[in-house]
This record gives sequence, structure tokens and C-alpha cells, in this order.
Amino acid sequence: MEGAHRLDEAAIRARVQVSRSGAGLPLPVGQSLCSGIVCLRVPAAEDLEFIRRMWADVETMEPVGGPVVLSPEEGVRWYRRWVDPGSADRAYWLVTCEGRPVGEISFRCFDPVARAGMLNVKIVAWERGRGHARQAVRAVLRYFFEDLGGTQMNDDVALSNGAGQSLMLSEGFTRDTTATGVCRLYLTRRQWEVRQSAR
Ligand SMILES: CC(C)(COP(=O)(O)OP(=O)(O)OC[C@H]1O[C@@H](n2cnc3c(N)ncnc32)[C@H](O)[C@@H]1OP(=O)(O)O)[C@@H](O)C(=O)NCCC(=O)NCCS
Repeated sequence: MEGAHRLDEAAIRARVQVSRSGAGLPLPVGQSLCSGIVCLRVPAAEDLEFIRRMWADVETMEPVGGPVVLSPEEGVRWYRRWVDPGSADRAYWLVTCEGRPVGEISFRCFDPVARAGMLNVKIVAWERGRGHARQAVRAVLRYFFEDLGGTQMNDDVALSNGAGQSLMLSEGFTRDTTATGVCRLYLTRRQWEVRQSAR
């Protein structure tokens, strides 16, 4: 058992070294992760049309502060910051199901020393309630903790956003009760590993 533990530690160190040497973030366009019924895919520039439509949709954006309307030029600037060439402090995927885009998932604020991230997931209003978000969160957490050597994933969810809170708490996140004005949630690598071994 102790030997197995040492192997785990060595594997994590090796993965961290890989990501530090540049094979981690930013992710290449087209990189994909799959979990259950969903596949996550780093979007191509052509996917901007769906992303802009999703952000402009009133019902989809209602729990997270309302719609955001980007011009095509603003969309291209966003794509450069987040995807291509992107940045080593963030990752962004489209959530797809049977080939059609149903939402997005991302994390930001990653740095190579603290190795923590801030999660965001969104499913378009007309595709909710089918397990897409849960599977997307699982796929990203697996990538974050196993492949990238992440130490802690954080998420700030609005106090009024019951669906978002319920999703994160049911995936093992803990609420930081010292935070005020927001539901501050976190999941450490240790907490995630304990959950994995209980599955
Ligand atoms: C929160 C959100 C991502 C859920 O997406 P979804 O694909 O409908 O979620 P799932 O079908 O995978 O449901 C997973 C869990 O989320 C919670 N949940 C989802 N919708 C819910 C709702 N309307 N009310 C309460 N809990 C809800 C439940 O715990 C659910 O598990 P259950 O089905 O066993 O009850 C979606 O409503 C959304 O995009 N909201 C706007 C963005 C947002 O709030 N993001 C979360 C914070 S980053």
C-alpha cells in the first residue's frame, strides 16, 4: 500500500513536470476530454458563433448576471485571450453531447506555484437537466488533478444560484463559511482523491 502511494506521488510529480515544461496550458485547439455522455473540446474559431449566441441568451445567463453581447470583433479578441494562442493561466472547453455544443466549462487564475484554479461551467438553458454539467465537471476535475497536478479548485457562486451550488456541493466541493456575499466553494486534491477511491 505504501509502495502504491509512493508510485502515485511519483506519477503526479512527473505530470506536473510535463505541464511545467509546456505540455499543459494553454491547451491545443481540438484537445478533448470525455466523460459519460459528454465530450469537452477546445473550440475552433468557427465555434465562436455558438459561444456568442450562448452568452447573449437571456435565460441561459440569468443565474450569472444576465446576457453578455459580444460583437464579432470582441469575440475574436476573447478567443485570442482564452484559446488561441490562449494563456498558461486558463483553460476553456465547449461541452458537447452527440457532437452538438451544449455549453462551456473553463478554469482561470491557474499559476505554476500555487496550482489552484477558479472553475466556471454553463449549460445552455434548453439543454439543462440531462446530466451534462455533472459529467463536464467530472472530466475537468480529473484533468486538473491528475494531468495538470492541480492542488485546489475554487468556485464563487452567487448566493441566489441554488442550481450552481447544488451541482458543486454534490461533486464534493466544501463551502467556505467565512466568506460573505457569495457562496465560496473549494475542492482540494486530497478531498478529490478520497472521493475517487470511494467510487
Ligand atoms: C448549474 C448548471 C451548470 C447545471 O447544468 P445541468 O446540465 O442542468 O446540470 P445537471 O443536469 O448535470 O445536474 C447536476 C446537478 O446540478 C444540480 N441542479 C441542476 N439543476 C438544478 C436546479 N434547477 N435546481 C437545483 N439543483 C439543480 C443538482 O444537484 C443536479 O443533480 P441531480 O440531477 O441529481 O439533482 C446550469 O443550470 C447553468 O448553466 N447555470 C448557469 C451557470 C451556473 O450557474 N454555473 C454554476 C456556477 S459556475
